[in-house]
Amino acid sequence: MAFEIPYSLCFLFVLLQLPFSTIAQSYNNISFGSYLTAQEDNLSWASPSGEFAFGFQKVGNAGFLLAIWFDKIPERTIVWSANRNNPVQQGSRVEFSAEGKLTLTDIGTGKPTNIADGQSTYTGVAYAAMLDTGNFVLATRNSTYLWQSFDHPTDTILPTQTLNLNSSLFAQLTATNYSEGRFKFTLEYGGSLTLYTVNYPLKSPNFLYWSIETGSGFQVIFNQSGSIYLIAQNGSTLHVVLEDPVSTQDVYQRATLDYDGVLRHYIHEKSTDSWSTFTFIPPNICTAIVEYTGGGACGFNSLCTHDEDAAHTSCSCPLGYIPIDQDDERNGCTQNFFPQSCDKASSETEHFEFQELQFTDWPGGDYEHFQPFNKEQCKQSCLADCFCAIAIFNEGSADCWKKRIPLSNGKINDDVKGLALVKIRKDTSTSAKEKGSLVRLIIGAVIILVLNNLVVSIITYLVTSHAQVNPLNPVVRVMNLKCFTFMELKEATNGFEEELGRGAFATVFKGVLASDNGKFIAVKRLNAVVKENDLEFKAEVSAIGRTNHRNLVQLLGFCNEGQHQLLVYEYMSNGSLATFLFGESRPNWNTRKKIALGTARGLLYLHEECSSQIIHCDIKPQNILLDNSFTARIADFGVSKLLKSDQTRTTTRIRGTKGYVAPEWFKSLPVTVKVDVYSYGMVLLEIVCCRKNYEPEAPAEDQMILADWAYDCYKQKKLHLLWQNVGDDQEMDGIEKLEKYLMIAFWCIQEDPSVRPTIKKVTQMLEGTVEISVPPNLSSLYVQYK
Ligand SMILES: *[C@@H]1O[C@H](CO)[C@@H](O)[C@H](O)[C@H]1NC(C)=O
Ligand SMILES: *[C@@H]1O[C@H](CO)[C@@H](O)[C@H](O)[C@H]1NC(C)=O
Ligand SMILES: *[C@@H]1O[C@H](CO)[C@@H](O)[C@H](O)[C@H]1NC(C)=O
Ligand SMILES: *[C@@H]1O[C@H](CO)[C@@H](O)[C@H](O)[C@H]1NC(C)=O
Ligand SMILES: *[C@@H]1O[C@H](CO)[C@@H](O)[C@H](O)[C@H]1NC(C)=O
Ligand SMILES: *[C@@H]1O[C@H](CO)[C@@H](O)[C@H](O)[C@H]1NC(C)=O
Ligand SMILES: *[C@@H]1O[C@H](CO)[C@@H](O)[C@H](O)[C@H]1NC(C)=O
Repeated sequence: MAFEIPYSLCFLFVLLQLPFSTIAQSYNNISFGSYLTAQEDNLSWASPSGEFAFGFQKVGNAGFLLAIWFDKIPERTIVWSANRNNPVQQGSRVEFSAEGKLTLTDIGTGKPTNIADGQSTYTGVAYAAMLDTGNFVLATRNSTYLWQSFDHPTDTILPTQTLNLNSSLFAQLTATNYSEGRFKFTLEYGGSLTLYTVNYPLKSPNFLYWSIETGSGFQVIFNQSGSIYLIAQNGSTLHVVLEDPVSTQDVYQRATLDYDGVLRHYIHEKSTDSWSTFTFIPPNICTAIVEYTGGGACGFNSLCTHDEDAAHTSCSCPLGYIPIDQDDERNGCTQNFFPQSCDKASSETEHFEFQELQFTDWPGGDYEHFQPFNKEQCKQSCLADCFCAIAIFNEGSADCWKKRIPLSNGKINDDVKGLALVKIRKDTSTSAKEKGSLVRLIIGAVIILVLNNLVVSIITYLVTSHAQVNPLNPVVRVMNLKCFTFMELKEATNGFEEELGRGAFATVFKGVLASDNGKFIAVKRLNAVVKENDLEFKAEVSAIGRTNHRNLVQLLGFCNEGQHQLLVYEYMSNGSLATFLFGESRPNWNTRKKIALGTARGLLYLHEECSSQIIHCDIKPQNILLDNSFTARIADFGVSKLLKSDQTRTTTRIRGTKGYVAPEWFKSLPVTVKVDVYSYGMVLLEIVCCRKNYEPEAPAEDQMILADWAYDCYKQKKLHLLWQNVGDDQEMDGIEKLEKYLMIAFWCIQEDPSVRPTIKKVTQMLEGTVEISVPPNLSSLYVQYK
């Protein structure tokens, strides 16, 4: 110190400081005049524990957000930002000025803007700090907050944060665009807590899709232990919005209104590296939103699907339609064909056909209704009517509704009674739009010819004729599959560096698409045994590309350049079921149950719901991958069809993997979908018991073969033996549930394929909608493992 203070006075000074300094010590104060610059050096102002940081985050190619984020986890999740609608360019800066102002200066305009907006005076700001709660504050000497980020939430609230009257959370627009989007969560003046769609790009509410109606709501509190509840002014709890998770030790939490309109309570165990959804509202957004005006949950012409297990909603386009904006799946779909002409002379009815979609509806927007009508009449009526884009037919009540473009509130849901008949142009391989442009091109050529420009006309002729013999690859356009070059994929995988897995016919590598915001991909390089015929390859790839289900790994694209034949899939962050089940820590029962059901649903889709039936032939834990919410996603389906036919179905060369292959492979019996049911049964046993189906090192000889051991335990009513293996799991709902799952598995692994249930029946048994009868005796499986 530059000047001397009498010792006693100094002591008094320390004493006076004591109450404040104990609080203040936990803050890393930001000194006056400090600033940060927007660049990729990741410099930030961290909270004392380092769990949160304040600074610039680069968001795609758009620029930088001045943000607060979770800083100790790999996925640096942004919880707040000052400029979500206006990212700033590299070189912009944020400054905590000597006067105690917090300003953001965009290098583009050079004009500083006050972040602590609405604060008329800054007198009294003594320090700024990033707190361990995730709150950034400007405070007085006595730690009264003059401004805090907690009072200006964007789309997220954190434990200890409150949401006051009139304040809102706005969902971001898309997964990668942080600007204010289409949904808002508001504690309305008047006291009701609500979720609304907004009249995007305005912020005004449009459709109320969830609410707690009270006249006295005052604050929404997210308390330390993780409950989110609504209180009245006198402090009494009016409604618990989202329940608290079990333990708050070692977990991060947040509640975010996601870009799909769902408010999710997320938890993130500090030991893991991803967020998982704990609870969410509304229960099903696809059915909750039925707007009179506006695009609904997914945009016009689109279809919304909600997966309760995964707490996930997705939007898709019906066949024949494509997304308007690839980067924004909630922006709706458009027809990928020329609509039917209304010109009577050129009646086009024979050029159209229907795609039938079960459990699908676009409520509202009907313009004509017939009753009674049968399905054929309904189709004929829509076909003959150029206004009709789809018809909804209800078998039970013989109703037929005709609807026109744009269609609103589309959804696929089990409780939808109707059958949607989507009218599409038959010839999708050369779409009418293209034909149109071809015609224009030829007309153009003729005009040029007339103008005597012979050279140009010859070139034009060459171009058009070339287009005729080699139309754009239909696969690419219709399925939205991307056609990659080999170089692109080589670059994406850094020269096929990181291997994710290897099978008999292919090797899988991890890659990253720089062109797509650094999205991770899995690149499957097929060995030299694939279909040589180009057309066949494309046909099969397009068949795989057409499959689209939440329990399948989605094909994103392919590469077909001479001997280089590769498939590009989504990357699954949680690896395979094999590592999950047989790894160090035993996964919890609820997650395993969800995986069992998800896998069955994925198979059901392959067997019964996609346009051409697909038998997987190699269901095993290594081929069941887990996405970031631990939803089961079946991988590797359809690939068998890419292989040369003589490689796939010979009795000498069994496809599939020991321990999971059905006995008919050994017996030259026809291979049907029931081989997958068999393999599924084996996997189900492993999921239930958390061990491999064959363990030569098992503690006792009779335990080596899981199916035999489990069946013996079941037969001799000694399930407690198995239970010992798994029963310490708190969440296991008891020995009866264990028995139920085992019985389903025993049905699946029956030797006679005709005795095995269909996968649909299996799904129903898992869901508890059909009775599970006592399975027939199981013959020993010992033979298989010899
Ligand atoms: C900044 O962080 C990103 C993402 O964590 C990382 O890839 C990059 O290397 C970091 N940059 C520097 C200069 O540390
Ligand atoms: C986000 O979307 C808006 C509206 O479409 C657009 O103006 C803006 O540029 C997008 N921002 C980013 C970061 O892509
Ligand atoms: C932070 O600022 C407060 C108020 O001026 C002060 O009491 C405290 O000592 C400072 N803490 C640190 C760690 O600098
Ligand atoms: C803290 O300081 C502010 C102004 O600087 C004053 O209004 C407030 O009453 C003080 N609070 C306490 C608890 O001393
Ligand atoms: C909320 O908004 C209403 C109407 O806009 C206004 O009258 C009221 O004072 C506001 N309440 C608060 C607490 O800001
Ligand atoms: C949080 O709220 C829940 C429900 O109101 C309550 O049971 C719990 O005790 C609260 N926790 C804390 C730390 O206040
Ligand atoms: C608090 O307010 C609510 C709603 O206004 C009322 O129902 C309740 O009785 C009040 N409780 C107390 C303890 O005053």
